[in-house]
Amino acid sequence: MKMKKIFLRMAAAIVMMTAAMSMTVFAAGWTSGQGENHTRWWYDLGNGEYYGQSGQPVEWQWLDGNQDGIAECYAFDSEGWMYADTTTPDGYTVDANGAWTVNGAVQTLGVAAGYAGTGKAASSAGTGEEPDLEEGNRILIAYFSKTGNTEEAALAIQNITGADMFEITAADEYPQSYQATVDRARMELDTNARPALASDMNDIQDYDVILLGYPIWWHTEPMIINTFLESHNLDGTLVLPFCTSGGSDISESMPDLTAIANARGARVGTGLTANYIDDSIISNWLSENGIAL
Ligand SMILES: Cc1cc2nc3c(=O)[nH]c(=O)nc-3n(C[C@H](O)[C@H](O)[C@H](O)COP(=O)(O)O)c2cc1C
Repeated sequence: MKMKKIFLRMAAAIVMMTAAMSMTVFAAGWTSGQGENHTRWWYDLGNGEYYGQSGQPVEWQWLDGNQDGIAECYAFDSEGWMYADTTTPDGYTVDANGAWTVNGAVQTLGVAAGYAGTGKAASSAGTGEEPDLEEGNRILIAYFSKTGNTEEAALAIQNITGADMFEITAADEYPQSYQATVDRARMELDTNARPALASDMNDIQDYDVILLGYPIWWHTEPMIINTFLESHNLDGTLVLPFCTSGGSDISESMPDLTAIANARGARVGTGLTANYIDDSIISNWLSENGIAL
């Protein structure tokens, strides 16, 4: 079993490295340690980064290591080593392959369909009452977009939902330059910043559902999305995240986003990676979350 998993991980790493050479700087792959660490694993993000840099004793990530469309949840220590066959410092069990288990069952989520909402992150905090999701839901699309990709996805979603739109913008506008934005985003992530909003809505409670759009920045949601969530009482609101990215899946942002939205009283449903969408993908996403158009 161990051998099989290791083989699958190596195969996945090779596939990802090959894909990386042709298309993106955000490559990823499982990598084994050297020498005395040869039985241990870390996850190479391909851009000089790796999981386990949060400064916390444990960092969780949903990863589809063997590319079968199903992600498992892995924990990394502060040096980037994957926890295996142990109880993590925050009290969860991981099996010999590093996958999070509950009563011996590996916890999974469907990557192709986005975050399934049945995993650890979804159960990480209490939520309010479940909203009554029937026809006639009041839907808001709130999105942040630096270079227009997420805005394009938001407009496509608005086209078939007719939802109200709100653009989240920063009081201190992000720079024109890509590199300057990357540097500022990294600093905001490292300091867990809450960049101030240029403007905000005061009638969020009028909506049952918020479709929340953002680009993936440094493998998670931009910190200004957290500012937006934390600015509101979201009791009884269903939040459905969607993202655009250079290749990262929305699941990378779901644990952080879910914890923050849950803390404001929201329930978080299935996420959508909206790099390539059409009307049927959008309506399937909404209907799997109980929203009839
Ligand atoms: C600061 C920054 C960090 C990024 N980090 C990632 C990343 O971790 N993974 C990824 O796939 N793409 C990453 N990207 C690419 C964006 O997610 C992608 O271009 C997105 O579609 C931009 O959306 P927008 O046009 O709405 O701003 C990053 C872009 C920026 C500017």
